[in-house]
Amino acid sequence: MQHMAQLSPGREQSQGAAVEVRGLGHIYAGRDGAVPALADIDLTVPAGRFVVIVGPSGCGKTSLLMMLAGLRTQTSGTILVDGRPIATPDPSRVGVVFQEASLYPWLTAVENVEFPLVLKNAPRDERRARAEAMLNLVGLSGFGGRYPHELSGGMKQRVSIARGLVQDPPVLLMDEPFAALDEQTRMTMGHELLRIWSQTSKTVVFITHSLTEAVYLADEVIVMSARPGRILDRVPIDLPRPRTYQMMATDVFGALRERVWHQIRDVP
Ligand SMILES: Nc1ncnc2c1ncn2[C@@H]1O[C@H](COP(=O)(O)OP(=O)(O)O)[C@@H](O)[C@H]1O
Ligand SMILES: [Mg+2]
Repeated sequence: MQHMAQLSPGREQSQGAAVEVRGLGHIYAGRDGAVPALADIDLTVPAGRFVVIVGPSGCGKTSLLMMLAGLRTQTSGTILVDGRPIATPDPSRVGVVFQEASLYPWLTAVENVEFPLVLKNAPRDERRARAEAMLNLVGLSGFGGRYPHELSGGMKQRVSIARGLVQDPPVLLMDEPFAALDEQTRMTMGHELLRIWSQTSKTVVFITHSLTEAVYLADEVIVMSARPGRILDRVPIDLPRPRTYQMMATDVFGALRERVWHQIRDVP
């Protein structure tokens, strides 16, 4: 498994990094003056790693993710994705999943998944086959003909993940993708995401407010400070894989969660 191989010494070397952020800063021109949103962000994410970012509301997590996706341009610093700068959205390098599934309501599940390929003018048979394979991967085979309003919240997020992966990008970015789901569905989706990740060897950058979700999913938890967001700590999560729900009840899990909580509870 690729992500296991990445845990060997030398993993911090830039070579083979899927995401490399150097000296990143961002200042918004707000109505009442400049709003410094991010400062001094240096982050290397080796290929195949599952990294989770946590931090207080407004610390710039979504801004950072938008920049990694090429959806927003940073004020300063550089971002390399798969070794090359990213300036505009490129779904063949970066897939993105947001909190809201943001599916087109007038398209079926399979049409939503294949939509990025339609934009690329891929042949119909090829894109349909690819979309069906992605629906299969996320556990939705047989649901391709359903419209978004006929799907549950968890199923809609599965469709979003399938769409994010349809061009086989090396990197998948996820911004609180399960935050709107009920607790039980959220746990199931986290577990499902780990299965999909281990089957596809993607590099994942995942944002959440849930410290339990963070520790459960991550190889490494990145803790950010209040605005302007900086990296306060990087907590390696050395729990074995595959992760199980039973691990959440262990002392090791509790200690890791406590270490992350300790960093952010004192932040105003
Ligand atoms: N388009 C914008 N214009 C001005 N300020 C913004 C804009 N987008 C976000 N901000 C501000 O930047 C800060 C970081 O926002 P955001 O990245 O959404 O944080 P998070 O996702 O961690 O909650 C917040 O203070 C927010 O109000
Ligand atoms: Mg956000």
